[in-house]
Amino acid sequence: MALLTILEYPDPRLRTKARPVTAFDAELRQRIEDMFETMYAAPGIGLAASQIDWHHQLIVMDLTEDRSGRQVFINPEILSKEGSAAGEEGCLSVPGIYDDVPRAERISARWQDADGQWQQQSLDGLLAVCLQHEMDHLDGKLFVDYLSELKRQRIRKKLDKERRSRTA
Ligand code: NI
Repeated sequence: MALLTILEYPDPRLRTKARPVTAFDAELRQRIEDMFETMYAAPGIGLAASQIDWHHQLIVMDLTEDRSGRQVFINPEILSKEGSAAGEEGCLSVPGIYDDVPRAERISARWQDADGQWQQQSLDGLLAVCLQHEMDHLDGKLFVDYLSELKRQRIRKKLDKERRSRTA
C-alpha cells in the first residue's frame, strides 16, 4: 500500500474532468486500497481520484469513526435530487477551511462497485452531501467555487502562507 499525495487548491489539475473507469482489474483494486489508506491518514471521510491526480470517476468514502464503513463509488450518476441541505463542508484539498455549501437533501444515485456491478440507492444526510461534494471533484469543481470571490481570495492567501511556512 502507498500513501498518495493529495493535490491542494488552487492546483489547476483539480480542474480536470474525470473520465469513466472502464477496467475493473487488480490495478483498480490497488488504487482503491491506496486511496483508502491516504484518506484515513489525512484524516478524511471522502476522497475523489481527481484529488490524487488520477482523472477517472472513482470515489472512496467512510463516514464511520472506526473505519468500518468503506464505500466505493465508480462512475456515479445522480438520477434525482430533492430538498435542500446547507451544511458546513471541508475538503482535504482545501485544508483547514470550512464553509456552508448548498446541497440537495436527498438524492437517488447509481454507481458501479469495485467489481463493476451497478448499484442504485436513495441517499440522504451526510452520505448524500458527501457524494455530491465528491462528484463535484470528478467534474473539476471544488466547494470553494460556491463561495464569493473575496472568500476564495482569502483562502488562497491563507493556504499559500501555510505552504510557505511548511517549506521554510
Ligand atoms: Ni473534497
